[in-house]
Amino acid sequence: MTTPRTTPVRVTKAVIPAAGLGTRFLPATKASPKEMLPVVDKPAIQYVVEEAVRAGLDDVLMVTGRNKRPLEDHFDRNVELEHTLEASNAVDKLALVHEASELATIHYVRQGDPRGLGHAVLAAALHVGQEPFAVLLGDDLIDARDPLLEKMIEVQAREGGSVVALMEVPQESISMYGCAAVDGSGSEDPDTFRITGLVEKPSAEEAPSNLAIIGRYVLAPSVFDVLRKTEPGRGGEIQLTDAIETLVATEPVHGVVFRGRRYDTGDRLDYLKAVVRLAADREDLGPPLLDWLQSWLAERTSDNGADRAER
Ligand code: G1P
Repeated sequence: MTTPRTTPVRVTKAVIPAAGLGTRFLPATKASPKEMLPVVDKPAIQYVVEEAVRAGLDDVLMVTGRNKRPLEDHFDRNVELEHTLEASNAVDKLALVHEASELATIHYVRQGDPRGLGHAVLAAALHVGQEPFAVLLGDDLIDARDPLLEKMIEVQAREGGSVVALMEVPQESISMYGCAAVDGSGSEDPDTFRITGLVEKPSAEEAPSNLAIIGRYVLAPSVFDVLRKTEPGRGGEIQLTDAIETLVATEPVHGVVFRGRRYDTGDRLDYLKAVVRLAADREDLGPPLLDWLQSWLAERTSDNGADRAER
């Protein structure tokens, strides 16, 4: 049983599962990992590593699989490219190339058989050891202006146990997520709850709430022992949600509700929306993109009106 500690162990390690096949993005992901898909001009995975580093986690373990070499290359030096950019005095571009390789200390472990998110997290056991650690899922991007992980780490230090990020979703969408039952009583912070139960992708009728798990966790190392015994659950996969549900019986598990900007890059439409929203907020690209979008939409609307009038 974990009890809140007077001197909490500082969270320093982040685990990023990146072994998925990315079948929703075929053929783009046939030979290159979905984590490398650019969101504006940066691969999705780099946003996630940057988020971990902002929260003070500069020891990053990626759980990868076959086809994931480009991930390692992206976070490594590229000496040939650096020489070329140096020779042409392309200082800004050189800085961008360095940024990725200097961000964090990145380790890699292979998952082998992809048997679910819980199984991927279990592959981190040896690297993590006996400390609380963070898990960041690459399909969820959290806006750098809206801190979440920092708050989860604070809650974990105060309460012990594990902390899961939650988001309110419309009831009809809950079946796409893990869902939390919570007890709000006794909490001073209106966005932090004690979790009393978790269920992976319930139907709208079965769901205990409209609070969905989003892909950020700060977990007690005791989760590894539970994962070793967790049977395959929904979809025949070893589910992280099921392992945390087991922890609820013996240790504190808290939920932090996130109300900031989140971008889903997990399916094609949401990915397109993420690219447009992030580009629209950029100083260099935003103004011309928004001007163009407005006139393009107006043109389409008037074309459609004309088409309808003709019919
Ligand atoms: C995973 C988790 C699920 C969580 C979701 C957040 O599901 O199993 O509990 O709500 O990530 O993105 P996946 O989207 O990998 O099916």
